[in-house]
Amino acid sequence: MCGIIGINSSKPVSATIINSLKKLEYRGYDSAGIATLSAGLINEVKSEGRVDNLEKDSLVQNMQGTIGIGHVRWATHGLPNSINAHPHSSQNVSVVHNGIIENSTLLKKFLVSKGHKFKSQTDTEVIVHLITEYLKTKNIIDSIKKTLKSLHGSFALGILFKDQPDLIVGARRGSPLAVGYGPNENYLGSDSYALKSMTNKITYLNDGEFCFIKKDQVEFFNNEGIKINKKVLQLSSEEQKYDKGDYKHFMAKEIDEQPKTLKNGINEYLDNINNDINIYNFPWKISEISSVLLIGCGTAYHSCLMAKYWFEQITSLDVNVDIASEFRYRKNRFKKDTLYVFVSQSGETADTYAALDLCKQNGMKTCSVVNIIESSIARDSDFVLPIHCGIEIGVASTKAFLGQMLILYILCLKLSFLRKDLDKDNFIKKLIDLKKLPKLVDQTLLTDNKIQSVSSSFNEAKGSMFLGRGFSYPIALEGALKLKELSYIHAEGYPAGEMKHGPLALIEEGMPVVVLAPRDSYYKKTISNMQEVIARGAKVLLITNKSEDEIISENIWETLEVENTNEDLLPFLLTIPLQKLAYYSALKKGYDIDKPRNLAKSVTVE
Ligand code: AGP
Repeated sequence: MCGIIGINSSKPVSATIINSLKKLEYRGYDSAGIATLSAGLINEVKSEGRVDNLEKDSLVQNMQGTIGIGHVRWATHGLPNSINAHPHSSQNVSVVHNGIIENSTLLKKFLVSKGHKFKSQTDTEVIVHLITEYLKTKNIIDSIKKTLKSLHGSFALGILFKDQPDLIVGARRGSPLAVGYGPNENYLGSDSYALKSMTNKITYLNDGEFCFIKKDQVEFFNNEGIKINKKVLQLSSEEQKYDKGDYKHFMAKEIDEQPKTLKNGINEYLDNINNDINIYNFPWKISEISSVLLIGCGTAYHSCLMAKYWFEQITSLDVNVDIASEFRYRKNRFKKDTLYVFVSQSGETADTYAALDLCKQNGMKTCSVVNIIESSIARDSDFVLPIHCGIEIGVASTKAFLGQMLILYILCLKLSFLRKDLDKDNFIKKLIDLKKLPKLVDQTLLTDNKIQSVSSSFNEAKGSMFLGRGFSYPIALEGALKLKELSYIHAEGYPAGEMKHGPLALIEEGMPVVVLAPRDSYYKKTISNMQEVIARGAKVLLITNKSEDEIISENIWETLEVENTNEDLLPFLLTIPLQKLAYYSALKKGYDIDKPRNLAKSVTVE
């Protein structure tokens, strides 16, 4: 949610800030802005919409200054327009902000009483005026300290001062922020991705810390304003050159990369010589864990739900799943023998992070399944299982979903084997099947034509439903979420057996319904539920797996067969046509596939 960049250099910075903002657009894209210092003045240019609009502005093209800050916005307070776009500036101070200031109304009252005039509807503008107000009587460190203490809520900030031509201040509480180091220049960024094209030397700020970024030096402070030392991390350069290649959209590329995602994960965790799973340095004894609680949001929550079915089936552990935004505010009964697993592609999702933080405060065992290993969730959990799928840019998560499911499945097999729930023969059998999965996903990716042709019917309908039972139910939820977020079509994921308890009333003549009915232990039951919706006029797209057994049902609109594998692994294959359905449906509608409306890739507000 929102992206921040800051550069303090001896060369002009506006073009580099614009390029970095383009990289950050996946975090927010309803408006953008830049501010630089030159000739003792703050220059500020902002525009509604994409960074392209900002770049075209002649003021940006002629912008001077060797120090500056930039921002891409995902609106929380106030409409997405150029007035509400960041930076927000007074005569003396300019600020970019990610997060939400919860007490902005009260602070605004106080500032108005002191004579400050507000231009925007944002919560951010209070930060500008607070610093300006405190600077009247205090030095920079004290005015920053006092401002940060006055703010309730979450923030990552980049701040420029008219009278400080060699200073960007960065500050963090709740929202991530990183500092990068370059030759005679230093940077501030809301994530390392924005900084990677300039440097691979990074320091992450922790909650409560702030920093002074000068051209040739960076100083860090704790919330009391006391100087602290921080580690400089060296990042891998592997992900520096991630682009769309010949693909029209990142999402199409990321769907096609899924066999590679799975191969990477399998190579990383499977020990082919000893037929085992390598999970090194697991910090707890297996006897210390008797239950697992899986926590995530959105697609990551769906991978948790999927894992619940595997854990229940394959282990004797108690397993539960929770949505992070619910978990964090409920009265939880923390249990010492529970392993709390946090699943997140970005590793920065505010709700998931807050749930992790709560568990840590209560002394629980925390493990995270993340893609970005430098992220806050990865850094702050006791143990990390990376998913190794490479950067994911499309706002709609695809390869990260398969990656998360893979790692959760691997964790489930390992715990099950260690607990002796699974004997050696069955364990090895499952590992052999798992190794074949990337190839099967590759073959399933070829089912393009049929999906392309059925997608029109989904576009024309008022709404659609996705039904599944057992292992297929979380995948039905994920299929519906993908269609909603990309094509803006109302789509409902439902357990097939639950239809008769209400949602069946929604079915009318010609309504497209996806039924996930692989030949697993739920097959016959799901086929019966499918017949119930067909009888009420639904147009059913049946997705099953290849088999010699004929499908005994009449009036199915279309059938699509994915490859065949064991019952545990079929969900991976069923996911592929659903991702493609959402992709083609949005493509036909001409929507912005990589940046669907109202959404952002990294949800760092609650
Ligand atoms: C999925 O397509 C989403 N855009 C969204 O639901 C996402 O999965 C969710 O916001 C969680 O993100 P995370 O994995 O980065 O924590």
